[in-house]
Amino acid sequence: MTPALSDKKAKDTSGRRDFLRKAWPVVGLVAAAEFLLFTINMLRPGKELSKSNPISTLKIIGNVEDFQVNSVTTDRVNKLFLVRQQDGGFLALSLICSHLGCSVAWDEPNTRFICPCHSSAFDKFGNVVNSPAARALDYFPVTIEAGKVKVDISRKMKRKKFDKSQVTYAL
Ligand code: FES
Repeated sequence: MTPALSDKKAKDTSGRRDFLRKAWPVVGLVAAAEFLLFTINMLRPGKELSKSNPISTLKIIGNVEDFQVNSVTTDRVNKLFLVRQQDGGFLALSLICSHLGCSVAWDEPNTRFICPCHSSAFDKFGNVVNSPAARALDYFPVTIEAGKVKVDISRKMKRKKFDKSQVTYAL
């Protein structure tokens, strides 16, 4: 290789190194900004976690009379619990722990949902009764039509805690 060619190649390599050295902080800033936006978005209360699907994702879980007052029905296929409250209202809770995403199970004797991963526990409304989970279980909107209980599994709703507006009643 001639000295002139060798100098040119060295200059090219040095130019690339300079570019990469300058580009890395920018890439880091963009990644940090995206992470920050993602985190803020995830922590917003009342946030719908998934976009509505134009195709109906209303799942018929059963007839109103199939669910006793003050009962919890586990639906593993749709990854939810259908809770019929003491006052007859329906609440569909996500089976996924709000801490780090393990599947929670209903513990009937202790009337709470328990997560096997880090022992978070939730009451019948999905409220946290034992940390480390910091917010209630997500819920899905329920509609009741012609005596059928339907849950829109495409609309997983994030929340800090239970609110009466999350319960649906048969008319
Ligand atoms: S994933 Fe449920 S307590 Fe950690």
